[in-house]
Amino acid sequence: MDNRPIGVFDSGLGGLTVVRELLDLLPNERIIYLGDTGRVPYGSRSRSTILKYARQDIDFLTTFDIKAIMVACGTVSTTVLDLVQAEYNLPILGVAEAASKAAAAATRNQKIGLIGTQASIHSGTYERIIRKENPNAQIYSVPCPLFVPLVENGHYAKGDQLVELTVKEYLTELKTISIDTLILGCTHYPLLMEAIDAFFGSHVTLISTGAQGALHLKQELVRRDALAAGYPGRIADCHYYVTDSTDNFSRLATIFLGRTVKGFVEQVVIDE
Ligand code: DGL
Repeated sequence: MDNRPIGVFDSGLGGLTVVRELLDLLPNERIIYLGDTGRVPYGSRSRSTILKYARQDIDFLTTFDIKAIMVACGTVSTTVLDLVQAEYNLPILGVAEAASKAAAAATRNQKIGLIGTQASIHSGTYERIIRKENPNAQIYSVPCPLFVPLVENGHYAKGDQLVELTVKEYLTELKTISIDTLILGCTHYPLLMEAIDAFFGSHVTLISTGAQGALHLKQELVRRDALAAGYPGRIADCHYYVTDSTDNFSRLATIFLGRTVKGFVEQVVIDE
């Protein structure tokens, strides 16, 4: 048993889709969330910049007495996870491994689509893990750089014209190839799930990094005997930190979390 909180971070608010799953899966846990909203997106930046930002995110979270870190960012998980895991003396988990394994197991026609940020796609991380699990799988990758800014600006719903246009632009080729499984390789993308599912006529299994990452964390805490103790009526509590104004946080976070934001929100400086 370990009652210390879990640190969770993302470049912005997309990582809240992981928190959403964690709140359901691990209701006894305390969560400290950092969204680097002042510097989102990470996905179009160089690996060295992503590493610098990831270190600053982790340094901030480790000022709290936390038991583990969930990297709720596909970009950091695919580009620099191994480096930060070697540098810090606490469990640091990413979202790419579990999602890749789930996709490798789910495909029936061996055609897996992968969408993510430029940095995630360029890293080849998802492909490497899928190939190890399922050498017969063919992987078709498409970077979708406009999805994150669209979602962060409130454009995610099915029927939203900007969303429909962008989904068509990015995903038409994958539809033509007849993939049967698609990894939503960025934690912002679960918000686009309905629009993407409709585009594929519900014929494609969508694998969310958020859901898979949360499951992976739960399994790891069970394995380490590090779950927090529960008591009747306990609900998970969250503290949220962002690096830009907190003005729109509650409205947007409510959308990402799928529930009203309860808990403390504060703007912090992490790059000094
Ligand atoms: N949620 C991040 C990810 O999963 C957002 C990407 C970005 O900051 O570009 O990759």
